[in-house]
Amino acid sequence: MSTYDSSIRIDSGRLWRSLGELGEVGAYFDADADLRGVRRLALTDADLAGRELVVGWMRAAGLTVTTDRIGNVYGRRAGVDDTSAPVLIGSHIDTVATAGRFDGCLGVLGGLEVVRTLNDHGVSTTRPIELAIFTEEEGVRFGTDMLGSAVAAGRIELDRARERSDPDGVTVGAELDRHGLVGEVAVPIRPPFAYLECHIEQGPILAAAGTRIGVVRGVQAITWLELQISGRAAHAGTTPQRLRRNAGLAAALITVRLNEMVESGAYGQMLATVGRQVNYPNLINIVPERTLITVDLRNHDGAAMRRAEDDLTAYIAEVEERTGVTVAARTTARTPPVVFPQGMRDLVEKHAANLGMSSDQVTSGAGHDAGEIAALCPAGMIFVPGLYDGISHNPREYSTPEACADGVNVLLHAVTELACTAR
Ligand code: GLV
Ligand code: MN
Ligand code: MN
Repeated sequence: MSTYDSSIRIDSGRLWRSLGELGEVGAYFDADADLRGVRRLALTDADLAGRELVVGWMRAAGLTVTTDRIGNVYGRRAGVDDTSAPVLIGSHIDTVATAGRFDGCLGVLGGLEVVRTLNDHGVSTTRPIELAIFTEEEGVRFGTDMLGSAVAAGRIELDRARERSDPDGVTVGAELDRHGLVGEVAVPIRPPFAYLECHIEQGPILAAAGTRIGVVRGVQAITWLELQISGRAAHAGTTPQRLRRNAGLAAALITVRLNEMVESGAYGQMLATVGRQVNYPNLINIVPERTLITVDLRNHDGAAMRRAEDDLTAYIAEVEERTGVTVAARTTARTPPVVFPQGMRDLVEKHAANLGMSSDQVTSGAGHDAGEIAALCPAGMIFVPGLYDGISHNPREYSTPEACADGVNVLLHAVTELACTAR
C-alpha cells in the first residue's frame, strides 16, 4: 500500500462502461423518446437484477457487503484504523418508470469507481470507506421518496416503511422478504464520519453557464399529497349542470390554482406538479365519479412551503363547496429544506479548483439520499451538468463521459481527504 497521491485520476472509460452495463438492466424501448430508457422500480425483479450486478462488482473490488433491515446495501473498504467511523459514499439504482441511465447510478457507480481507483493505485486510507445503495429513493412505487435513506437516518420508522404499499397492494416488507433483502445491519445506522454523493444535476443551470461542477448548497423542501376526489357519476348528455358533482372538474380547478400560485410569486421559488391523474370510470360520456390526483410541491423556503400547503387546503374547501365533491387529502411525503455544512461545500469547491474545474453553488431541485443522511453526519453533494436543458426522469437524460468523470474525480479526491482525516 502506498500513500495518497493527488495526481491520480479515475478510469473514465471504465466508469462509462459500468453506467452502460447497468443501464441495460431493466432497459425498454421508449417510443416517444425514440430511445432506450430504463425501468427499474424499487424492489422489482429488475431492481434485484441491478443490485446483483452492482453487488458483484463491489465484491470483485474487494468490498465486504452487508445489508440493513430496509435493504440498503453497504460495501466496505477497510481503513488502517478500521474501528473509526467510515466515509460513506452513496446514492440509488432504483429508477422511475421512464428513466435514463444517470440519476442515482452515477453516484453508486462513481463511488465504485473511487474504490476501484484507490485499489489500482494501492492507496490506503485511515478510515474505512463504505459505498451505499439506498432502497426506493425515487418513491414512485411505494409513494414516498428517499425511503431507504430515511429509515437509515431514523426519520421514518422501519415498521412504517415496511407497511407502505404499491398501487397493487404489495408492501415494502413483502418485497424485502421475497428478495431476501432484510439484512443484519440495524437501523438507524451508526453515524458515518461524513457522506458524499455525486449526481447528475437534472436541471439546466450548470450546462447553460458552462460550469463543470455544481457545489450543492442543499436540497429544497418537498411535499407530496394524494387527493382522492369523490363526486357522482352521471350521463354526459342528460345530466344538467346543476345536478353534476364532477370529480374531474374539481381536479382541473385544483391543478389550475396550483399553477396560479406558482406564477403569482407569492410563495418564493415554488414549483407544483400534478403528475398522476386517474379518473373513474374514465369514459367519454360519463361525468367522472372519482378522480385521484397527486400533488408534488417544491420550495427552497420551508415557511413558504407551509403557507402554500395551508392555502391549497383552504382552496380545496372552496372547490368542495363550488362543485359538490368531497376531497380526502393524504400527505405521502414531506421533507424540509436541507442545507449542507459549509465545510463540505468548501471541500467540494476546493477539489474542483485543484483539478482545474470551474464550479458554482446550486441548490438541488430534486430530492436526494444526501438530504436524509445529513441528519447523521456532515453531508455534501457534487453535481455534474446534464444536456438538453437538464432533462431527467426521461430516457433523454444525458451527461457526457467527460462530465461524469469530472464529478467522480472530485468525489475521489474529496472522499480520500475525508478518509485520511483522523478526527
Ligand atoms: C426524486 O428524484 C425526486 O426529486 O422526485
Ligand atoms: Mn436521484
Ligand atoms: Mn430521480
